[in-house]
Amino acid sequence: MKGIVFTEFVDMVEAQFSADMVDDILDDAAPASGGAYTAVGTYDHAELVSLVVALSQRTGVAVPDLVRAFGLHMFGRFYAGYPAFFEGMTGAVQFLAGIEDVIHAEVLKLYPDAQLPRFECTLLPDGLAMVYRSPRHFDDLALGLIEGAVAHWGGGYTITRAPFEDGTRFVLTAA
Ligand code: HEM
Repeated sequence: MKGIVFTEFVDMVEAQFSADMVDDILDDAAPASGGAYTAVGTYDHAELVSLVVALSQRTGVAVPDLVRAFGLHMFGRFYAGYPAFFEGMTGAVQFLAGIEDVIHAEVLKLYPDAQLPRFECTLLPDGLAMVYRSPRHFDDLALGLIEGAVAHWGGGYTITRAPFEDGTRFVLTAA
């Protein structure tokens, strides 16, 4: 997993909890890489999972809630860091419908070794269906990112999720 995900996670923990909390969860998780993450590095995604588990144990906040909150945070960071991907975007459905063929396709050009999920998107009369598939099963991260996109463009959609084939189907419906 790309280092940017790790550096953003560490920054979020520092901002929402404390620098001491970052040190504590790094001590608890004892990641094989040593934990000195850089944005351009690449690390085992299991290290992120063990950091989240450590944070959950220390804070009492459930793992899915932490991962989802991280997704929301990541959306804001992507917006700040990749303005080109947002040019001409007028709504969450338009943006999210292009996640596979536009956004992550561009991400892959920037980071050829990125391990990205697959999204199969279908426009609906009143929203969008997104089937998420990834061997890493970061469903909660996807949900947080989708919620971040919806909030960014002013809300107005309810989001449901359900198991679908070998993945998860998110449905956004105009409220
Ligand atoms: C400008 C917007 C975005 C950028 C620049 C971006 C970029 C990235 C990058 C760099 C990674 C890490 C890949 C790796 O670790 O090798 C990633 C992973 C991921 N992205 Fe995006 N992304 C964006 C928006 C979104 C949105 C809106 C969603 C949800 C619909 C999403 C879903 C995910 C998920 C779930 C992962 C984790 C990997 C996995 O599930 O296997 N991304 N993305």
